[in-house]
Amino acid sequence: MDERERGGSEMNSADATERIMIVDDDHSMRVALVESVRRLGYVAEGFADGSEALEHVGQFQPWLVLTDLKMPRMNGLEVIKEMKRRAPRTTIVLMTAYGTVETAVEAMKQGASDYLLKPFSMDLLERVITNLREGRDSGGRAGSLTGSPEPRPILTQDPGMAQLLSTSESIAASHATVLITGESGTGKELLARFIHRRSPRAHRPFIAVNCAALPDGLLESELFGHERGAFTGALVRKIGKFEMAHTGTLLLDEIGEMTLGLQAKLLRVLQEREVDRVGGREPVPVNIRVIATTNRILAREVEQNRFREDLYYRLNVFPLTIPPLRERPADIPFLARHFAAAAAARNGLAQPLLSDEALAYVQRLPWKGNIRELENVMERAVVLAGRGPVLPEHCPVESRDVPAQLPIAQPANGSLWEMERELIFKTLAKVKDNRTHAAKELGISIRTLRNKLREYRVGGGPISMQMP
Ligand SMILES: Nc1ncnc2c1ncn2[C@@H]1O[C@H](COP(=O)(O)OP(=O)(O)OP(=O)(O)O)[C@@H](O)[C@H]1O
Ligand SMILES: [Mg+2]
Repeated sequence: MDERERGGSEMNSADATERIMIVDDDHSMRVALVESVRRLGYVAEGFADGSEALEHVGQFQPWLVLTDLKMPRMNGLEVIKEMKRRAPRTTIVLMTAYGTVETAVEAMKQGASDYLLKPFSMDLLERVITNLREGRDSGGRAGSLTGSPEPRPILTQDPGMAQLLSTSESIAASHATVLITGESGTGKELLARFIHRRSPRAHRPFIAVNCAALPDGLLESELFGHERGAFTGALVRKIGKFEMAHTGTLLLDEIGEMTLGLQAKLLRVLQEREVDRVGGREPVPVNIRVIATTNRILAREVEQNRFREDLYYRLNVFPLTIPPLRERPADIPFLARHFAAAAAARNGLAQPLLSDEALAYVQRLPWKGNIRELENVMERAVVLAGRGPVLPEHCPVESRDVPAQLPIAQPANGSLWEMERELIFKTLAKVKDNRTHAAKELGISIRTLRNKLREYRVGGGPISMQMP
């Protein structure tokens, strides 16, 4: 009993659901954990031994138990099993060192909700606890921390696509890195989510980062996080996307747009499997599965010295190429019908009839914007057609000479976009509108800066339409 650290109970009147039990035979680790958990506002109690913890579980009634794996008398797996038997509603997290991932998986099977690979940061501990609480509060299980709703199914009648999906399904089972190549709007992100959902990490976080959406400096701290005061404006410590994706999948979207400088840092993380927060002192270990996407031919980028060869080989473990829509002839009428029907249902219209002329017409188009463009066109078509059949003139496509490199879509996360815009304007003000200096300071090319400024001016207006 004297080996037990009590914390917080006297000063905290929280109900039983706020109690956390810590089981670890390592004295200093246990004390540190009790202290950290207490600081998060929970009532914490530490036990050096599994059987002692089990004796007290009825009386202490923790909502969460954090248990070490390797302990002299009773190991963590036994603790989990017995704890689940005595108090089935208790949430349990296993703490274990690298190299015992299989055991962690075994622990999950025994009923543990999560595991923490040692050494872990207190930030990660906090995040895991918060996620578990949110899962509990919303009546869901810890799996709900994947956040994203069930993604749309990948619809296809193209034999090549069907083959690609079955390959993706087999690849999903491994933890290997995947590189998805395809034109804009072909469904790269959809495929990445498909792989995540069918992987052993399906109930773990899926975190996406658009590498094209941010200037270098911001992207770096977005990916790796930063310590408070790491640079001007870093007012609070920030957890990077790598750490957020811990135990799950990280989607590096538009990887081809990353600068060479950042590519070097990314390579290091992928090699070492640990991240350095900007301004941080110690690297933080991460366990992630990486999926990267690009609409560039990366091998060609390597040839032209715009992409690091070593990084390319590290990413290109399982390359998947999604064919453009124009090379999937069966999919054009099939998806056109599907999107038209869905759009009609959404708009409260009768199920539309696609005329033969319209079908023949859409099959001849180049579909530079691929599935995304087809979906938009069909949505407008059913509205324009009203009660009559859909005719070719109801299908205006986006400008046919779309540049090979389509403008990057505004990221869904508006705040990031705003953050970037604010940073650009602030930097411009600082350098008295000298664009060369601003671009240098921001770590982007003048061209990118110019494009960004144009984008802010037009405010994302509609792309020009061309009638057939
Ligand atoms: N086979 C498909 N079936 C149904 N919907 C699809 C299919 N492929 C793509 N989509 C839809 O098309 C849109 C574009 O897909 P997604 O964002 O995955 O493409 P992307 O290749 O990542 O595009 P970008 O290069 O512009 O980022 C999404 O709304 C997606 O749901
Ligand atoms: Mg995408």
